[in-house]
Amino acid sequence: MSNNIYAQRRARLASQLASNGIAIIPTAPEQRRNRDSDFLFRFDSYFHYLTGFTEPNATLVLLANGHSILFCQPKDEAREIWDGIRLGPAAAPAALGLQTAFASTELDAHLPVLLENTAVVYFPFATHQGLDGQITHWLEAVRCKARQGVTCPAEQRDLCALLDEMRLIKDASEIATMRRAAQISAGAHIRAMKLSAARLRQGLDTREFHLDAELLHEFRLQGSEYPAYSSIVAGGANACVLHYRADAAPILNGDLVLIDAGCELHGYASDITRTFPANGKFTKPQRELYDIVLASQEAAAAATKPGNRFNDPHDAALAILAQGMLDVGLLDANKVGSLQDVIEQRAYTPFYMHRTSHWLGMDVHDCGSYIEPSEAHVVTEKIDPVTKQTLQVRPSRILREGMVLTLEPGIYVRPAAGVPERYHNIGIRIEDDALVTGTGCELLSRGVPVNADEIEALMF
Ligand code: GLY
Ligand code: MN
Ligand code: MN
Repeated sequence: MSNNIYAQRRARLASQLASNGIAIIPTAPEQRRNRDSDFLFRFDSYFHYLTGFTEPNATLVLLANGHSILFCQPKDEAREIWDGIRLGPAAAPAALGLQTAFASTELDAHLPVLLENTAVVYFPFATHQGLDGQITHWLEAVRCKARQGVTCPAEQRDLCALLDEMRLIKDASEIATMRRAAQISAGAHIRAMKLSAARLRQGLDTREFHLDAELLHEFRLQGSEYPAYSSIVAGGANACVLHYRADAAPILNGDLVLIDAGCELHGYASDITRTFPANGKFTKPQRELYDIVLASQEAAAAATKPGNRFNDPHDAALAILAQGMLDVGLLDANKVGSLQDVIEQRAYTPFYMHRTSHWLGMDVHDCGSYIEPSEAHVVTEKIDPVTKQTLQVRPSRILREGMVLTLEPGIYVRPAAGVPERYHNIGIRIEDDALVTGTGCELLSRGVPVNADEIEALMF
């Protein structure tokens, strides 16, 4: 993305700050993995959204007049031999299109001066451990100058409130990156499906990690930096563990495989789940449940359009899932009543226990309020029909063009008394990434088939 975009975002943010306000946004800290090895560095999403800068140990300071100051690692030949080239403060303004840069080692010297006589300090609350303590420390230094006539900001405000709203609506360059990330992930899912069928046909011992390796290979081959989250590759009953990770369990003939994996590309996540027969052919009970989940996702997609609410795709998916559970006997109407009863009493919960959507963007579970800000004051009290507790309900977010959300319904059947045996240990989720358009939604991740017949044809 061009520097222009980051400068425009900073200008938009600055225009929303109180006059004489100042915003402080650090990147993420480096994280120790074990002994002297660090996790691969991943920048902070807010910081990157405003700078495009990927080095660690950096802080952006933005003034309400639009002036941007970057603190970044100083040039240091000895360190650069070990850790790589640093941009350095001399080159940073031109390279990143901002006004001033200093070495990050000068942060403590400059911040008290920058904070002098400002009115409001903004920073992301509860996202950077230790940041509030650091800011308090700088403010103490400002207060010490009170007798010289220096004023100290009287107010601290959460910068996330402003940045989350900006990040929720994706601009054209963000959509292009997300579209490409979804394409890469779709290609990786296709490769994993094909590998599974091919290995089983050859009678090879096939483990979850074989399919995980295939995903990673395709992600990197196509230029993605890393997975957007830990890939789930779950054979058979493991699919019923929602946060299962790719491990070493065998992929068996006759089982389903659930893969929930997406790459991160230039800071943007994709998030795709496909569930497919390990050997390329669904059994009858697997297909019955699969088609219910797919129909529920189609209903969710039809409900994903501007003007609808964030909860609408979930409610649409739920109605199809619950009816399907009644139809196939996962739920017994004699015990749980009508479709309406199932939904009201949440009788579907043993088989569908998560929500259908989340925002998607720089973070896989992206920022952005799920409550409609213009109606946040509209609070309705409701008695929960299950717990009998009083709930306060606020109107869910109105969908707008440029928002991106996942649609990821599922059915997970753990063996239990009264549950038809032919469905035991089947876990199915189907997840796509939906961009809200002017009239409906575009599924960015449909480069990998989702229809059961098409999956079988692909794996044949
Ligand atoms: N893979 C995380 C999610 O689907 O939300
Ligand atoms: Mn998801
Ligand atoms: Mn997912």
